[in-house]
Amino acid sequence: MAKFLVENKGPLRGEVTISGAKNAVLPIMAATILASEECVIQDVPDLRDVDVMCQILESLGVKVNADFSNNRLSLNAAEILYNETPHELAKRMRASILTMGPLLARTGSAVVALPGGCAIGARPIDLHLKGFEALGAEIIFSDNQVEARADRLKGGRIYLDYPSVGATENIITAAVLAEGTTIIENVAEEPEIVDLANYLNKMGAKIKGAGTDTIKIEGVERLHGTTHTVIPDRIETGTFMVAAAITRGDVLIKNVVPDHVRPVIAKLKECGCTVEDTIDGLRVKADTGRLTATDIKTLPYPGFPTDMQSQFMALLTTVEGKSTVIETVFENRYMHITELNRMGADIVTDGRSAVVHGGAPLHGASVMSTDLRAGAALVLAGLAASGVTEISEIYHIERGYTEFVEKLRGIGADIRRED
Ligand code: UD1
Repeated sequence: MAKFLVENKGPLRGEVTISGAKNAVLPIMAATILASEECVIQDVPDLRDVDVMCQILESLGVKVNADFSNNRLSLNAAEILYNETPHELAKRMRASILTMGPLLARTGSAVVALPGGCAIGARPIDLHLKGFEALGAEIIFSDNQVEARADRLKGGRIYLDYPSVGATENIITAAVLAEGTTIIENVAEEPEIVDLANYLNKMGAKIKGAGTDTIKIEGVERLHGTTHTVIPDRIETGTFMVAAAITRGDVLIKNVVPDHVRPVIAKLKECGCTVEDTIDGLRVKADTGRLTATDIKTLPYPGFPTDMQSQFMALLTTVEGKSTVIETVFENRYMHITELNRMGADIVTDGRSAVVHGGAPLHGASVMSTDLRAGAALVLAGLAASGVTEISEIYHIERGYTEFVEKLRGIGADIRRED
């Protein structure tokens, strides 16, 4: 099994360029099912999850032409031959559920295996299904799979009990071809939702309000092909910001949208880092003084992202004093804590809260990546620990970070991948 070996070689310095966003490209790829003409997607990150989505789309009949040397995908859904996402692929990636809205809208039926992905909680799909039902679909459960069926979806009014990112995306992609107007309230406001809406509007959809808590969609008869460039990955951005901070380094992070990482900027500044918004990107400096403890609470956007919780916690273990972390988005997202404690950290959990008594020196250990962001947190901790940190189960990390080793080495990190 492949693993990462990480050593502390002091402060990271230099420049790193962020790739296109995993969580933006996956729903955009799925939405391509809606059009019968070619769509070209640019700045596509070369990731395992993207590869799985390519395989899912191919299995449905979409012609996929991937050119990862230019980060470009061309997808042609002229013919959709199947309405069922293969179980084996669906189990590998939770985002497989995002094919459901587009398949339902395009073919009148969508069958999806109950999804897999990171083991970070129950992650139900009730809100997705509630949305499809409000658009007139019938929902049928059988043997670990679910089908949504409707001859022609009809616009409806939907209130989401929680601003779920995936449910918002699935309901938007179902509603764009529905007859009449759909209004979705209490939706997710994440930048990835805005990117999806921009993409669909370029294809001829009529979506208003993406980025606010209410989205209004006028259904159209059909969508056409388009070309779209994916937004930069705000979680990769945040991870490199923390990499600069945890090593007390000075790193310029290029290809970023600073507005998308406002909570991370705010919290790094609270800790005493300098974050400069320059013409070339975000420059994070943590080499000018002692950092101080701070508290974080994860929330839907524009709150502090749950996908940055574990990496920021790794940073807090290196800062003297008591920091409190509260995870409100997922109920089981503290699996990195056992591993960080094995490296010498002092973190105590109590339900959704974790108290970090920072400042104890971290030391290398054999640790396991339990999910994508937890794995990234362990790499960051390894960059600040004495000795060698050996991280196993790194396929989780490779699901979501493009050229992680190369990018970290480019700013001076000592990290290598061993098979
Ligand atoms: C997306 C992101 C993931 C991120 C998460 C929250 C992608 C591919 N993944 O995941 O990286 O961590 O947003 O920012 O974009 N929920 C329900 N019922 C539902 C759907 C969700 O109760 O039908 C709950 C979940 O269990 C969870 C919360 O809502 O507690 C947030 O989940 P959601 O926003 O749906 O996350 P994902 O779309 O799965």
